[in-house]
Amino acid sequence: MFDILNDFTARPALFAGFDTAALWADPHVAQQMLKLHLAPEHGIASRRHAEIDAMCRWIDAEIGLAGTRLTDLGCGPGLYARRFHAAGTRVTGLDLSAPSLAHAREVACPEGRFVEGDYLHDPLPEADVVTLIYGDVCAMPEAARHRLFGRVRETLPPGGRFVLDAFPPAGFDAREEGAEIGRRLGDGFWAAGDYVGLRATFLYPEALAALDRYLIVEPERQREVFAWLQYLAPARLAAELEACGFESGPARDAVTGAPWEGGERPYALVARAR
Ligand SMILES: C[S@@+](CC[C@H](N)C(=O)[O-])C[C@H]1O[C@@H](n2cnc3c(N)ncnc32)[C@H](O)[C@@H]1O
Repeated sequence: MFDILNDFTARPALFAGFDTAALWADPHVAQQMLKLHLAPEHGIASRRHAEIDAMCRWIDAEIGLAGTRLTDLGCGPGLYARRFHAAGTRVTGLDLSAPSLAHAREVACPEGRFVEGDYLHDPLPEADVVTLIYGDVCAMPEAARHRLFGRVRETLPPGGRFVLDAFPPAGFDAREEGAEIGRRLGDGFWAAGDYVGLRATFLYPEALAALDRYLIVEPERQREVFAWLQYLAPARLAAELEACGFESGPARDAVTGAPWEGGERPYALVARAR
């Protein structure tokens, strides 16, 4: 017991244990994530649905989606895909979560193509526009971001666009270190039956990163989940995109598309493939 708790409360190295499948592809957790996505007034897993409407409107006005091929990376249950399709684009969604993809195919956007896969490793389809929405770019280490940007660049023709949003550094100031323990921590989010959940939050001020580390102990199994978030300044993200073959436009408010005014609100960049 001492070894388990001693290990759990020790600060991991930055981005240690990075494993998107552990967070997103566990069948029970994926169902819970889907429920969160589909709650129209809930902003945890996806934006509130009225904000998704607004975001899709400005992306369409900026790029002109009609007649394009669009790949939505981490498409979730197809909330954006549906709106992109309505704007006249041919959508392919890629995601790790089988329940979210089923919802996308059967309910949200039967006209779209939805593929189960890992956008960090699996082949990406050719496209004119690629989207990566709701801060996914903040959840991965810099090396993975660079690899992904390079791979996205290869799927686009010159002039193709890559739209992505991110959480800015001011969000980091609101984070605190701490720990909690609870029977069925998170109201059954982590497993269907009995379990005890522990969460320890670690901050990495030098990298503006935070880790929520979970230990989920069920009667017959025990697992850890690492949820990383790095808060990224627009200039840094733009420079990383530039290094991977893109020209980045100015930061915009992710929801409205207006010039980004700083603070905690997420921003979006529309990067053009060189
Ligand atoms: C924060 S949710 C956002 C979903 C959607 N973009 C939205 O805003 O409604 C992140 C999504 O990305 C998916 N995801 C995370 N890492 C992934 C990866 N490496 N490859 C494919 N999908 C991934 C998750 O399964 C989840 O559906």
